[in-house]
Amino acid sequence: MLRSFLLVFISFSVLKSQSLQNCDCPHSQIQPTLSSTCKGSKFMKLIDEYINGQCDINDPCGRPTPRFIKTPDSSYDFIVVGSGSAGSVVASRLSENPEWKVLLIEAGEDEPTGTQIVGMGGNFQMTSIDWNFKALASTESDRILTSPRGKVLGGTSVLNGMMYLRGTKEDYDDWEALGNPGWSYENVLKHFKKSEDNADYDNEYHAKGGLQAVGKCTYTHPMIPDILEAAVESGLNINDLNAENSTGIMIAQFTQKNGIRRSSARSFLRPARDRSNLHILVNSTVTKVLLQNKVTIGVEASSNTGQVFKIKVSKEVILSAGAIGSPQILLLSGVGPSEDLNEVGVEVEHNLPGVGRNVQDHVSYGVNFRMNQSDVNSLNWLSLKEYMVNRSGPLSSRDLMVATAKIASPYSNGRSDIQFYFFSSIAACSKTGIPGELNSAKQKSFKPTPVMLRPKSRGYITLKSSDPFEHPKIVYNVLQDPQDLEILLHGVKFALTLGKAKALEKYNLTLDQDVPEGCENFEFGSDDFWRCAIKAAYSNDNHQAGSCKMGPSSDRMAVVDPRLKVYGIKGLRVIDSSIMPKVIAGNTHATIMMIGEMGSQFVKEDWEE
Ligand SMILES: Cc1cc2nc3c(=O)[nH]c(=O)nc-3n(C[C@H](O)[C@H](O)[C@H](O)COP(=O)(O)OP(=O)(O)OC[C@H]3O[C@@H](n4cnc5c(N)ncnc54)[C@H](O)[C@@H]3O)c2cc1C
Ligand SMILES: *[C@@H]1O[C@H](CO)[C@@H](O)[C@H](O)[C@H]1NC(C)=O
Ligand SMILES: *[C@@H]1O[C@H](CO)[C@@H](O)[C@H](O)[C@H]1NC(C)=O
Ligand SMILES: *[C@@H]1O[C@H](CO)[C@@H](O)[C@H](O)[C@H]1NC(C)=O
Ligand SMILES: *[C@@H]1O[C@H](CO)[C@@H](O)[C@H](O)[C@H]1NC(C)=O
Ligand SMILES: *[C@@H]1O[C@H](CO)[C@@H](O)[C@H](O)[C@H]1NC(C)=O
Repeated sequence: MLRSFLLVFISFSVLKSQSLQNCDCPHSQIQPTLSSTCKGSKFMKLIDEYINGQCDINDPCGRPTPRFIKTPDSSYDFIVVGSGSAGSVVASRLSENPEWKVLLIEAGEDEPTGTQIVGMGGNFQMTSIDWNFKALASTESDRILTSPRGKVLGGTSVLNGMMYLRGTKEDYDDWEALGNPGWSYENVLKHFKKSEDNADYDNEYHAKGGLQAVGKCTYTHPMIPDILEAAVESGLNINDLNAENSTGIMIAQFTQKNGIRRSSARSFLRPARDRSNLHILVNSTVTKVLLQNKVTIGVEASSNTGQVFKIKVSKEVILSAGAIGSPQILLLSGVGPSEDLNEVGVEVEHNLPGVGRNVQDHVSYGVNFRMNQSDVNSLNWLSLKEYMVNRSGPLSSRDLMVATAKIASPYSNGRSDIQFYFFSSIAACSKTGIPGELNSAKQKSFKPTPVMLRPKSRGYITLKSSDPFEHPKIVYNVLQDPQDLEILLHGVKFALTLGKAKALEKYNLTLDQDVPEGCENFEFGSDDFWRCAIKAAYSNDNHQAGSCKMGPSSDRMAVVDPRLKVYGIKGLRVIDSSIMPKVIAGNTHATIMMIGEMGSQFVKEDWEE
């Protein structure tokens, strides 16, 4: 064992010294490292050292550090709170106007280099760059669900799975029909395309030349063609699900380029690194929006070293703190349901009953097949070498996640309402420190995972206290509406069909016979068994949305108007996932960047000329 470790160590060192690049810019290692996410693994430490010396991965000359400030000026034209999927877009677009002084405030720090390896993108959940929110499944249940959210420049786009999937045409046409002019598919498509630098397509639906790199992974797991064939056998077409057809299967695109993550901070803030009118205050948490007679006058923020700043604004404060952060800040500022605010002793500035209501998330349940095979995946020394030399191979890719499918259940009038992810095992840690054991799953599994995309259930977010540093109370009410469960059941049945496809016969898939606790009394495989199993073992899918929904003034639960201005307060907008009246049927990141583009345009239209 020691001998093989030494051999690898030596060849690694040779390769490393050959490829160490001089990036001509000073840089220090930002925490956490990959090694720290793997219990200090020595092997991961070598990878950390290697990637820190790689200009394309670490990018010390491109980072927005020249824009970082220690102390903010006393006043700005615009203050953007949160640098996630939406906030990075907003700060970037507003600072395009050299006349405007823009401050971006972010609770976290710049992106750690380890987050940039596409194949290891999952490692950073539950670290210091994750808010680590905990939520309740429902008010009645004490089941606790984790809600990872990025606390870092780039927000959750630094922790996420990078899949680039927009909602369907009907999602946006629905938003418009709910009383939100301007949000039709035809119109939002322009804003999707504005961001996009698509490596694979340039057509009616996709564009090149935007700030956000989007592309397929160069490496495709050998099982993927068989999964596509199995899906076709089961009645699906191979389609670009970001184009006219909303059902089918495809090799997905990701917010990555050459095996390197392209978070929204990397894509939108790094190109703004030379703009002197943009200031970025990292490590600082906004504790409230300062209001005077329902007019926004600034924000209060606290740095992680205990400094408190009161910063004035002359035009607008824009909340882009995400589906949990944005309603939390509104509530802390006295904008929200007055009964909730009274309960925690926050003075009511404006009674707005919709703040923190209408919370939605997708819900999934994986059907596990065991595979009598141990070598499907090859995340080992060889794949590391491939990544080092060519930025290709399994570490540049997303395992079986590179395929995704969408189907329509009988409950959806032909619209896609179930998405499929495919899981097996993905690069995680070398627990032993021995290369070749980058992933530890001994028995391979194939886990087609239906995701229920159009939940009827609604949750809520309220304050636990007036302390801005205490996490809010989050309740999702998962599967509260019985139809949500029936849709997932339909998804499970499709997963079982897929597992039986001829194209997958060679993998000797056997359905996992495990019976979740509490489901012993149901006949294995019956509908009631699956209903029970889904309720026992679902996951929430981290696509939180809707907590400050957009709507017409006639809708008393609307928090922002169709131009994203907070009702009843002057000079305040919300621009992020919170504003979706209904969560879109797909992964949320692409849509939230589009919301950032739309919102920035509204601001420009309102203040320019
Ligand atoms: C594990 C995981 C995997 C995912 N996979 C995918 C995927 O493959 N594809 C996809 O499309 N979507 C995916 N998502 C979802 C997607 O990434 C999120 O929906 C999206 O990033 C949210 O964007 P946002 O702008 O609303 O919020 P965020 O990106 O969360 O940004 C909010 C920002 O505000 C900051 N902030 C919050 N409060 C304050 C405060 N008080 N003061 C200062 N700053 C503050 C936060 O630190 C953060 O940087 C995934 C999510 C998770 C958690
Ligand atoms: C939509 O689906 C039809 C039928 O499968 C197909 O002919 C067409 O090419 C698809 N369009 C796109 C853009 O994928
Ligand atoms: C942010 O805080 C971390 C942790 O205290 C510190 O290491 C880092 O230098 C800070 N970054 C900046 C730009 O102030
Ligand atoms: C796995 O494969 C081996 C060798 O082909 C065989 O003996 C064994 O029965 C198989 N096990 C299962 C669960 O299929
Ligand atoms: C890198 O790519 C070249 C060209 O495709 C190939 O010949 C070589 O084997 C690759 N190297 C590694 C380590 O995978
Ligand atoms: C599947 O099972 C058959 C018969 O037991 C065996 O010959 C074959 O090697 C197995 N295939 C895999 C991929 O495990």
